[in-house]
Amino acid sequence: MDSTKRRFFAPCPRGLEGVLETELHGLGVPATTKTEGGIGFTAPWSTMYWVNLKSHIASRVLWEVGHSPYRSEEDVYRAAYALAWPEWFAPSQTIKVKVSARRCPLPSLDFLTLRIKDAVCDKFVAARHRRPSVDTERPNIRLDAFLDQQTVTFYLDTSGEPLFKRGHRIGSVEAPLRENLAAGILRLAGWTPKEILLDPMCGSGTIPLEATLMARQIPPGISRNFAFERLLIHDSQRWGHLREAARAKQLADVPSAIYASDHDPAMVKIAQRTFQSAGVGIDVRLKQSDILDFEAPADQGVMVINPPYGVRLSQPDELESFYPKLGDWLKQRFAGWRTYILTGDARVPKLIGLAPSKRIPLFNGALECRLYEFLIVQGGARRRLAPPPQPIG
Ligand SMILES: C[S@@+](CC[C@H](N)C(=O)[O-])C[C@H]1O[C@@H](n2cnc3c(N)ncnc32)[C@H](O)[C@@H]1O
Repeated sequence: MDSTKRRFFAPCPRGLEGVLETELHGLGVPATTKTEGGIGFTAPWSTMYWVNLKSHIASRVLWEVGHSPYRSEEDVYRAAYALAWPEWFAPSQTIKVKVSARRCPLPSLDFLTLRIKDAVCDKFVAARHRRPSVDTERPNIRLDAFLDQQTVTFYLDTSGEPLFKRGHRIGSVEAPLRENLAAGILRLAGWTPKEILLDPMCGSGTIPLEATLMARQIPPGISRNFAFERLLIHDSQRWGHLREAARAKQLADVPSAIYASDHDPAMVKIAQRTFQSAGVGIDVRLKQSDILDFEAPADQGVMVINPPYGVRLSQPDELESFYPKLGDWLKQRFAGWRTYILTGDARVPKLIGLAPSKRIPLFNGALECRLYEFLIVQGGARRRLAPPPQPIG
């Protein structure tokens, strides 16, 4: 395999750029550039395989295939036409072009999408006398173009389906966390596999599953396919070796206990089937329980809570009565634990009566949230809320 370095861009949920950059360094990517929404890096082709297979945080890995200044749609067409598309994929494969832009002066992204598609197809007709057809639902090859004020950058998507689709999800559930956001929360929490973990509102089990994959060093992408396998320059032998090397490093057990529970029996069933389908059914200690009935399984640990949002708990009365009880439960039963709550509701710290030691902005899709950290000590959080003013006299 050639060791030529190529440029890649790994997008991720906003707020996770820092943990993605750290993860990439850990995966052996030395030169990275952090931008809003992702990390650029320069690395040999096989490193791209490794990142697709092993990254818990990246949403995709895009290979940058061209970069050019532009002033008009025709400049963009010419820049796209100049690229060596027929060396990278075959005309029998279907394509989809996606254009995004920031401060682009041209009036229509739809028209640009059409012109880029035309350029790619025209290039194929000139070189191979045959053109690829478009499939916007399930394309074999995804081309991305990003335009800023003066330059257009073209990418081939090496991932295909986004990387948060690990291939383990069973059934459809309401509002599951994306797998890479769940993994990012664990990294932001500083959780390590040596620490006990509890998710007492686990839903379909996304957080404990990501934790288990990390703890057993199971590559998150081991059960799925990638778009790079369809590229003409794919090196299947090298890819096979990398997968086997990653498999060989998997651990048989989790080093520390991972607990998960939910009050909804249907959710517990879905989580159980998901853990089984990922091959980690015996690694997560899963039970049905109301959060407020759960007893601390150890003196210390890390708890991650992704409470419901949307209609049910956003009824003001219900919120106002639930969160103070959650605060009391934490103070009474979880002294010694680091607790993290992901919520879009800024009133939560006040309602649970604990002062957060960190508040980290994160995006759950389009929803702006905070990840609050509470260090629970006997009788309250380390930094208590100021007591209410006492009546004088
Ligand atoms: C936003 S969902 C969690 C989603 C989860 N992180 C996932 O990725 O699937 C919130 C979960 O809290 C559960 N829940 C709500 N109230 C609860 C309670 N009092 N005790 C335990 N679980 C509760 C719901 O059943 C739901 O599954």
